[in-house]
Amino acid sequence: MKTEYIELNENQIDSGVIRRAGEILRGGGLVAFPTETVYGLGGDALNPESSRKIYAAKGRPQDNPLIVHICRMEDLAPITEEIPAAGYALAKAFWPGPLTMIFHKSILVPTETTGGLSTVAVRFPSNKIAAELIRAAGGYIAAPSANASGRPSPTLGRHCLEDLDGKVEMILDGGPVGIGLESTIIDLTSEVPTILRPGYVTQEMLEKVLGTVEVDRTILGEETNLPPKAPGMKYRHYAPRGELVIVEGRQEKVIQYINHACEDYAARGFKTGVICTDETAQQYRADLVRSAGSRDDEESVARCLFRILREFDEEEAQFMFSESFDRAGIGQAVMNRLMKAAGHRVVQV
Ligand code: TXA
Ligand code: MG
Repeated sequence: MKTEYIELNENQIDSGVIRRAGEILRGGGLVAFPTETVYGLGGDALNPESSRKIYAAKGRPQDNPLIVHICRMEDLAPITEEIPAAGYALAKAFWPGPLTMIFHKSILVPTETTGGLSTVAVRFPSNKIAAELIRAAGGYIAAPSANASGRPSPTLGRHCLEDLDGKVEMILDGGPVGIGLESTIIDLTSEVPTILRPGYVTQEMLEKVLGTVEVDRTILGEETNLPPKAPGMKYRHYAPRGELVIVEGRQEKVIQYINHACEDYAARGFKTGVICTDETAQQYRADLVRSAGSRDDEESVARCLFRILREFDEEEAQFMFSESFDRAGIGQAVMNRLMKAAGHRVVQV
């Protein structure tokens, strides 16, 4: 299959392109598109054949459910069994935006889309290209992140091309995404609303609207024997090809440890990489030193993380180290993704 790659400007969207992309989706084809979080790999959410194609294009296990994207509040009721009051309250506070809610599904949603589950994850993105595309597709786009399974989520159009060239009909490049980490997922089918994946919308923000909100313990990297409630969280996501270790401790000690380790690996002929911050970047001696922005700007770290992990892959880094980040606010989502990328390898110095 030949993949068509088209650049779009979110502030001046070419309606002819959107119409064509909508036709591809209605016809059962696949289109990668930007959202405010990461790029999505879209197919018609109500067409089981489209969902099968999504799993095949990503190389994704079929028991890992897809998120259904909508662009109008009135499109929520037809795909859900019931909308609890919490759903309306969260929609009012955070939609359109980087929050995914889980409801009991209606029969309109094929189980191919929900990975066999009787629940459905729904998201209403704020990106204008995404909104117009969803409308053109008929209202419902199933879209996982547009990476090949196991790779970091795409934050640039060309990341989608790297992973999906020849596997999808079209890629819409809308420029760099704003947030850089996938949406927060909250399960509204459990007794107490539960966060299954941390993201830009934090527990604190959700509690302001709902009162008490629980967090699925498995996402914090705590040792439990329970499987995560979001099936996708059990897979080793975001993994760079080389080995990544997070180093925690006092700044001087962290720098000293990482430099020492990098020198050691370099002496043995390995290529090394460091993820750090503007404040420390000058002090590292590694083959690849990448700052994720200022330490005080957690949003910049969120935006840069996946791009840096992909750069390390492109440059074929073999041993990588990352500074650790504050877990407050979006920091919880940053550390959740970083811990997964590192396979939970953390060194305290
Ligand atoms: O920001 C995002 O959410 C991006 C953009 C494209 O919208 N999408 C995304 O999709 O991250 P994906 O497929 O990469 O991650 C979806 C996660 C998986 O961990 C999956 O297991 C979980 O959501 N999920 C989907 N439906 C679910 C359900 N019914 N119950 C529990 N977890 C669910
Ligand atoms: Mg994903």
